Amino acid sequence: MSLKIRVAVFPVAGRGTRFLPATKAFPKEMFPIVDKPLIQYAVEEAVAAGAEKLIFVTCASKSVIEDHFDSDSELERELRESGKIELLASVKEIVPSTVACIYIQQEIPLGLGHAVLCARPAVGDEPFFVHLVDDLIYSQTPCLEQMRRCYEYHGSSVLAVEAVLADQTADYGIIATEEEGLGLSRVISIVEKPNPEDAPSNLAVVGRYVLTPTIFDKLSATDRGVNNEIQLTDAIANLIVDEPVYALLFEGLRYDCGNKLGYLKASIEYGLRHPDLSEAFTAYLAGLNKES
Ligand code: UTP
Repeated sequence: MSLKIRVAVFPVAGRGTRFLPATKAFPKEMFPIVDKPLIQYAVEEAVAAGAEKLIFVTCASKSVIEDHFDSDSELERELRESGKIELLASVKEIVPSTVACIYIQQEIPLGLGHAVLCARPAVGDEPFFVHLVDDLIYSQTPCLEQMRRCYEYHGSSVLAVEAVLADQTADYGIIATEEEGLGLSRVISIVEKPNPEDAPSNLAVVGRYVLTPTIFDKLSATDRGVNNEIQLTDAIANLIVDEPVYALLFEGLRYDCGNKLGYLKASIEYGLRHPDLSEAFTAYLAGLNKES
């Protein structure tokens, strides 16, 4: 099996109900954090980790995602003619020309596991990243790059995990592990959305995975689980029986932009870090603090 990960899968066909009514006609993956949509942060992270083929598992109502990655020669001409060279570069460099984008429709949102299975014909027999776009991670070394290094060392699937509060386990896939050291451990069990009293730990799987193609056979054999959806977690529970799976306690700050509070936190903190906005935005927030 290749130790180079060339493929990234972005499941973007979910309904985004936690963000209704905003997501009724507009995908949450296109919500901006300062001046870039979430999906662009995701693509940049995957390309930086070596992905050359990007597979978007999407649905009919989200064609605006495809539009974002298409070139727009009319806009480029206008920016060139008006001398807006930096803006021109920002729209031309959204995806490097060496990277291929493939769009696959998930006709019915039957769950994350089903969305990943839809990508099978385009992935082939290769290891691949899965990136959940609404988990935005800020880190020195991008999270997928941290995971790529683990994969190249072990040649096995890798799940990104973080410790969550005990009362949050019912929102995540939760793992039990055997310690390996340096933030890496071997997964010995995984369960989807357990109640705190049933959770094997407080280590939650977040939206980054490296998966071997064996996962596709496991997904094909997976029945509907929690929420009547085909759960990626259930297929990983079967994968563990045949292959080692590792958990990486990644370095970085995660923002769950699929919920309103997480999205607001990301917008504020990315705004505070933005080189053009940092000073004015910091002053504005300090003023708000004084008023309250
Ligand atoms: P979520 O659990 O966040 O679901 O899916 P959601 O539909 O996006 O949002 P809510 O919970 O209704 O607010 C995790 C990821 O899996 C994708 C979503 O797009 C998201 O990136 N997904 C989920 C699919 O692509 N297809 C599905 O059938 C379900």
